[in-house]
Amino acid sequence: MDFQNEKNIYIMDHPLIQHKITRLRDKSTGTAEFRQIAGEIAMLMCYDALRDLETVDIDVETPIENTKSPVIAGKNQAVVPILRAGLGMTDGILSLLPTAKVGHIGMYRDEVTHKPHSYYCKLPSPISERIIIVTDPMLATGGSAADAINFIKEKGGKMIKFMCIIAAPEGLKHLHEVHPDVQIYVGHLDRELNENAYICPGLGDAGDRIFGTK
Ligand code: PRP
Ligand code: URA
Repeated sequence: MDFQNEKNIYIMDHPLIQHKITRLRDKSTGTAEFRQIAGEIAMLMCYDALRDLETVDIDVETPIENTKSPVIAGKNQAVVPILRAGLGMTDGILSLLPTAKVGHIGMYRDEVTHKPHSYYCKLPSPISERIIIVTDPMLATGGSAADAINFIKEKGGKMIKFMCIIAAPEGLKHLHEVHPDVQIYVGHLDRELNENAYICPGLGDAGDRIFGTK
């Protein structure tokens, strides 16, 4: 699949994002720095992912004269992190969208089968009229993201963007095939999955690195 030219797939190439991803990859980067940089990357990616937001002109009085100037129109937003690691991206996005509602979807991957299991789902209601930004730093097999987006669609979600910091080609292809309508934003497209379904070169276990667990 030619991801670069595929509709609804956006692979970031901004040097700031790439620089920060390198810091995340480095195994000597500690928890506090990892958490901070993950949030910064999410904010930078969100800035790009929201360039299609609609605006409407309103009247405004400047110190010089009256004019018309644009503000964000219509749709409200919801941020939905996939627990746990998606939480590491939430604050960065909320710094740009402070009035967005926040939902949570709990998923974990079975260590042997690599299949996703869900354990929690709480979304803002009604969800159908919101632009929904689903976050998870890692898109590996794509199973967790695909299932999480199934839950959101079952609850009525329609306008969905998925943001990950690192994707494997296998997971990106899977998610795009299952949900071709979802706009997928990728910080960096890595080489492949290994036999344990970890992304190579990747950054290891994102949840453990964000929360300092192991
Ligand atoms: C990680 C990651 C994704 C999932 C990606 O979560 O944050 O949710 O794996 O893998 P997939 O694309 O193959 O489904 P994990 O299951 O380790 O849970 P955690 O966030 O609680 O650590
Ligand atoms: N989950 C992670 O946290 N890292 C990977 O490389 C794959 C799944």
